[in-house]
Amino acid sequence: CVCVCVCVCVLIPAALFMFQRLAEWVAVQSESSDPAKWIEVEKMLNITAQRIREMGGSVELADVGTQQLSSGAVVPVPPVLLAEFPGDPKKATLCIYGHVDVQPAKKEDGWATNPYNLTEISGNLYGRGATDNKGPVLAWLHAVEVYQAIEQEIPLNLKFIIEGTEESGSFGLRELIMERNDSFFADVDYIVISDSVWASRNPALTYGARGSSYFFVEVDGPVDDFHSGVYGGSIHEPMTDLIALLASLVDHTGKILIPGVTDDVVPLTDSERKTYQNISFDLEDMKKVVGVKHFLQDTKVKVLMARWRHPSLSIHGIQGAFSEPGIKTVIPGRVIGKFSIRHVPSMNPPDVERKVQEHLKQVFNGLRSPNRMKVTSAIGAKPWVGKLCDNQYVAGGKAIKNVFGMEPELIREGSTVPILQDFQEVTGKSVMMLPIGGHDDGEHSKNEKISRYNFIEGTKLFAAYIYELSQV
Ligand SMILES: *[C@@H]1O[C@H](CO)[C@@H](O)[C@H](O)[C@H]1NC(C)=O
Ligand SMILES: *[C@@H]1O[C@H](CO)[C@@H](O)[C@H](O)[C@H]1NC(C)=O
Ligand SMILES: *[C@@H]1O[C@H](CO)[C@@H](O)[C@H](O)[C@H]1NC(C)=O
Ligand SMILES: *[C@@H]1O[C@H](CO)[C@@H](O)[C@H](O)[C@H]1NC(C)=O
Ligand SMILES: [Zn+2]
Repeated sequence: CVCVCVCVCVLIPAALFMFQRLAEWVAVQSESSDPAKWIEVEKMLNITAQRIREMGGSVELADVGTQQLSSGAVVPVPPVLLAEFPGDPKKATLCIYGHVDVQPAKKEDGWATNPYNLTEISGNLYGRGATDNKGPVLAWLHAVEVYQAIEQEIPLNLKFIIEGTEESGSFGLRELIMERNDSFFADVDYIVISDSVWASRNPALTYGARGSSYFFVEVDGPVDDFHSGVYGGSIHEPMTDLIALLASLVDHTGKILIPGVTDDVVPLTDSERKTYQNISFDLEDMKKVVGVKHFLQDTKVKVLMARWRHPSLSIHGIQGAFSEPGIKTVIPGRVIGKFSIRHVPSMNPPDVERKVQEHLKQVFNGLRSPNRMKVTSAIGAKPWVGKLCDNQYVAGGKAIKNVFGMEPELIREGSTVPILQDFQEVTGKSVMMLPIGGHDDGEHSKNEKISRYNFIEGTKLFAAYIYELSQV
């Protein structure tokens, strides 16, 4: 296709400029988890808005209300950016979602470089937000600029929705989508999200993501914390009860022990199994990345399925327990165990929550403890699965073939992207994930990066995708 050849010619000289922009974006410490840094998030949204305006787009920074902080103060949440480029009703409309806030990062966390100073080392660009999600958002804008630079008409109408609190719960986003369903989203045909990574060295299309529920199980009994030398051996310790409760959830093979929780998991089909066999994921490589001798499963297909299409239960922590170094012979009087379940189609979060409640109640009754147990839960994001026959997957496959000369790998995300389900449920439009990040980009961890290769080829992919989607 014309576009791809042209992309190469325009992008190579422009590459330096592209890195410079990414460096400017990465330098903004837009950590959304800390309301004190929301000013930086707002600055980042302003920079993005300015960029889009300079490119000829119109921008609205939509107010999404306020949030009450733990201090009691009520502060405005960073706005959500809604943008559109001048359109033509005869063309289809693609809406691109992204976010410009980041996870927290400090050099002391073990970064080899300053996380807010984009640094190139052997073809990789290290910096917080490089892959999640500033790099991909910029790549979309650069793909639009490619069309403008060569004065080729963009064959789709383009809209952008870019938020600043994705890493801390997307405040007000679902409400905004509902509010704008009949206006901003009315003429949108397709929604694309590039906020994930490939599974291997090969380009991919993502067609699923797990949902999640977070649980707190609290055991509370003695009026206070007591000394184990005084009361040890005579009281039902809340911690002992809690350990028994947590141990009843999942076994050492990763099997979820809560009755009925896995009943609704969609059975595996033969054709689905084949898509897993095709993924060029290297188990040995992954063992090195993770630093383990073996996984719970022994084959590539089983490991990938465990991460993407089966539910999992993880135990995250115990609040109220003595966790500092050193010795302290205390019996904590009140402890809260924290765990989460990743859901897959067609598990239903409220139904899972009910089964967890019933199970823990039964195990606790069996302990005959005088303590009190309370189970509460938070979040409850549904899993998402896309339709592979959808136009977006067809166009995505063609664009990948054009740019990379190979078929896409069809992959899923093990983690949860609530916005996918929100878009699909509220707008009813086609939704796809088109990742450009590498499998080893380290989003959310130290030394996050995007490679030069993925950043440039990803920009070409987006430009080619716009063309291919206009053709289906
Ligand atoms: C963002 O832009 C708005 C509108 O121009 C301005 O009022 C606000 O002060 C800017 N915020 C930051 C942090 O730059
Ligand atoms: C960023 O890193 C470069 C070296 O890669 C260094 O020259 C520059 O001074 C650093 N800037 C800041 C603000 O730390
Ligand atoms: C698996 O890969 C082969 C060879 O590239 C291809 O012909 C086949 O269609 C792929 N199967 C699936 C289910 O993707
Ligand atoms: C949003 O609008 C679409 C039409 O564009 C409609 O099909 C859908 O039902 C609407 N969603 C809600 C929640 O009203
Ligand atoms: Zn992200």
